[in-house]
Amino acid sequence: MTEPLPGFGGTERLRSRPAPGAVHVPGWLSPQRQRELVTACRGWARGPVPIRHTRLPGGGVMSVQTVCLGWHWQPYAYKRTADDVNGARVAELPGWLADLGRAALVDAYEDAAAGDGYAPDTALVNFYDGQARMGMHQDKDERSGAPVVSLSIGDTCVFRFGNTESRNRPYTDIELASGDLFVFGGPSRFAYHGVTKVRPGTGDPATGLASGRLNITLRVTGLE
Ligand code: SIN
Ligand code: MN
Repeated sequence: MTEPLPGFGGTERLRSRPAPGAVHVPGWLSPQRQRELVTACRGWARGPVPIRHTRLPGGGVMSVQTVCLGWHWQPYAYKRTADDVNGARVAELPGWLADLGRAALVDAYEDAAAGDGYAPDTALVNFYDGQARMGMHQDKDERSGAPVVSLSIGDTCVFRFGNTESRNRPYTDIELASGDLFVFGGPSRFAYHGVTKVRPGTGDPATGLASGRLNITLRVTGLE
């Protein structure tokens, strides 16, 4: 990404690296790609496993709605079938989405080889309405240290990206807007992160999403 000329571009959102191995690339998805992803996510939300608020073992329910591809994540394991929803096998993760994940790594790490061998086998599609949040957590049910690729569409959120030790400081609050890419790998792969706030009305309905926020994370489960 180009740097703004001195004195210009003060409002341009620049790429940042909040921690080693963690990269935020604003505006990575084209408007066309965002529309395609919204359309695809609508289809996955219908089935074979319908999107739902995930139930937690303690009895709580997540405010985010989730549908999975490739493997079904239910706290705190991956399975091929959605035993906590309708027992159906989840939809396949399409090859074009894995390709997008490889391209994301190349651009985020500015390294033509960064996507080599990256074969995400699951995607979690999360939908946030204006009240939804996600508490600080680690993505640690995968048996792989391969990076997580995160794509955001719709309303802007405040994404809190922390450290690998605890859910507390130090952390960095980052505005993830529609089209933004965030990658966390290497020393940041198991960092705590969460979504503290969604900013209703900040998304462009031209994406196909009239309201709310869509986030897709691509991951390698390391499972057979
Ligand atoms: C997640 O942590 O799995 C989702 C993060 C996000 O919605 O940006
Ligand atoms: Mn996560």
